[in-house]
Amino acid sequence: MVLAAACAAVCLAQPEDPGINYDESKVGGYTLPDPLVTRSGERVRNARDWREKRRPEILGLFESEVYGRSPGRPAGMSFETTSLEGQALGGKAVRKEVSVYFTGSKSGPKMQILIYRPRDAKPPVPVFLGLNFGGNHTVHSDPGITLSKEWMRPGPGITGNRATEATRGRAAESWQVEKILARGYALATIYYGDIDPDYDDGFQNGVHPIFYRPGQTRPAPDEWGSIGAWAWGLSRALDYLETDTDLDARRVAVMGHSRLGKTALWAGAQDERFSIVISNNSGEGGAALARRWYGETVKRINTSFPHWFAGNFKRYNDAVSALPVDQHLLIALIAPRPVYVASAEEDRWADPRGEFLGALHASPVYRLLGAEGLPASEMPAVNQPVLGGVAYHVRSGGHAVAAFDWEQYLAFAARHWKRR
Ligand code: GCU
Repeated sequence: MVLAAACAAVCLAQPEDPGINYDESKVGGYTLPDPLVTRSGERVRNARDWREKRRPEILGLFESEVYGRSPGRPAGMSFETTSLEGQALGGKAVRKEVSVYFTGSKSGPKMQILIYRPRDAKPPVPVFLGLNFGGNHTVHSDPGITLSKEWMRPGPGITGNRATEATRGRAAESWQVEKILARGYALATIYYGDIDPDYDDGFQNGVHPIFYRPGQTRPAPDEWGSIGAWAWGLSRALDYLETDTDLDARRVAVMGHSRLGKTALWAGAQDERFSIVISNNSGEGGAALARRWYGETVKRINTSFPHWFAGNFKRYNDAVSALPVDQHLLIALIAPRPVYVASAEEDRWADPRGEFLGALHASPVYRLLGAEGLPASEMPAVNQPVLGGVAYHVRSGGHAVAAFDWEQYLAFAARHWKRR
């Protein structure tokens, strides 16, 4: 699988790396920034203090120190429906493909959104939105999905950095299209490489150059890296969803796995139009606390993937306790909107306990805002989800999106969307 391949290059060397710890007794102590105390020491007493003081402060710190500042919606952006099939998947679904031309120009950077919605559900239909790793054609074996022509990481079924038919449907397990449709929801998905190919090229390809000022050749140290760009792409997809009357843009769950789980959290933190946020095995730079010395570290992620975060984030490689934020505050930025953090038992690289603690320590903000936090104070047993306004589970097995994960996300969404 694509994800296993992505991990293989990086994860195999872990045991010999002295900077990587897997021993819980060696994690050591750390002090987290308090979500409800501002940098100047002022206590956040109510929703208004949170909204006006602490939330903007935290958001600004994640922008300047971690993911980098992103631009807004480009004025000329345009949409074009490139294919529409009313009887897809044996008549169960309507399939649509939409091109988003970021600058309005068809020859400029663009992304292709694949949308399935249940044919028999009454519009407007709630949507699960997520980026995919291998091209839209990998999410289902449906021969009607356009094969991606964009750059792909070398691997099975990839020839000259381009996908071949052999990769069609390869990620179907991770997407569970039929399950989503059977619940009455739509799926919208985009190949993340449409927005920014996932390798360090000094930000020459992808969407970054659209926004360079005259003479600028790469983002400034406080400007967006690739995670910022992918999250920005999710917001642009939401811009499209707002124009599609068959879909309910007020009920969109943004979901992502691993690096794209980090991306979903950052998208949901910045863009309050997302109604639910789901992080699957997002690990370091996602839901896992950076200060916990377990699994991947800030230094390691910045070294293996120098293009993911803002340049400024590298300043914390050997000084993680100097970070003015930690990842529980990223989750807190989503409050009071429902958020689901999921781990996998064998995915130690992502630090399951650190992910749980990220969710737990975001919860005071949910409660301050009158929402339900995480209804647990201890990590739950394997395969025992805890569902509140903040939800968490640790699934048996490894780093992946499994049917079990989707079942929980669908139930979680049903529960929250029904209440509205
Ligand atoms: C690597 C990386 C993780 C990331 C994962 C993925 O393992 O170290 O931070 O989450 O790739 O995206 O698959």
